[in-house]
Amino acid sequence: MKKIIVALAFLALPGLSFASAAGYPLMKAPIDLHNQASLQKGAKLFVNYCMGCHSLEYQRYNRMARDIGLTDEEVRNNLIFTGAKVGDTMKNAMPKAAAKQWFGVTPPDLTVIARSRGVDYLYTYLQTFYKDPTRPFGVNNAVFPNAGMPHVLWQLQGMQEPVFTQHEDAAGTEVKTLTGFKLTQPGSMSPPEFKEAMADLTNFLAYVGEPIKLERQRIGIWVLLFLALATVVFYLLKKEYWKDVH
Ligand code: HEC
Repeated sequence: MKKIIVALAFLALPGLSFASAAGYPLMKAPIDLHNQASLQKGAKLFVNYCMGCHSLEYQRYNRMARDIGLTDEEVRNNLIFTGAKVGDTMKNAMPKAAAKQWFGVTPPDLTVIARSRGVDYLYTYLQTFYKDPTRPFGVNNAVFPNAGMPHVLWQLQGMQEPVFTQHEDAAGTEVKTLTGFKLTQPGSMSPPEFKEAMADLTNFLAYVGEPIKLERQRIGIWVLLFLALATVVFYLLKKEYWKDVH
């Protein structure tokens, strides 16, 4: 019996990953790994706004350059601020111990975050920081309640306040659910511009999580062509071998 319960608990696990802890609905991330302009904009946002705290330890600058359509020179001039060489991995300079002291938690490496959390979660997470004076940095997050990360993009997005809807649950108790936001202080980007920028950033993190995916698709096409050609050759051979038998 115990075993069955444990097995059932595991079956329920995948379900937990896409419904956010707070039950806030996830937005669908428009991922397009072939859109190099979007990947380049995402990379630029990442090195400017995220790399101060987060690293991409398993990604090299020059690998990224090749995959997203930039030259090593362009990466060196526009995307490296840490004094790293273009063949280095994308580490940051923040000492882990100090970071833990500042934020209470060490900012995680983000190389595989798109795979571990899902792209829709990331896309929603980046857009749902909201004002909450009870939190240490004055903000909270709809899909990651009490996140230890400040709203680092508030200058771009502006500051939004939460909109709660009151209703009664099955037992008749009043409950408040977070259902939306009101932008009370505009940022340097309009809401559609910010949304698009977050799509680019999520797209970039999706690429970083699986850089081999683009290559696999390229190789896949050649494999299919080879198989098609081989089928023709084998068919002709078969005809040749059986010619005398019939
Ligand atoms: C000032 C430092 C800082 C900056 C800059 C920063 N973060 Fe974070 N980030 C954190 C900390 C600290 C955490 C850990 C939060 C926690 O676990 O409570 C975190 C966590 C995360 C997580 C994990 C969320 C989860 O569900 O575990 C993601 C994703 C993330 N950050 C993305 C980003 C992106 C994208 C940027 C750039 C736009 C960025 N961060 C910029 C400090 C930062």
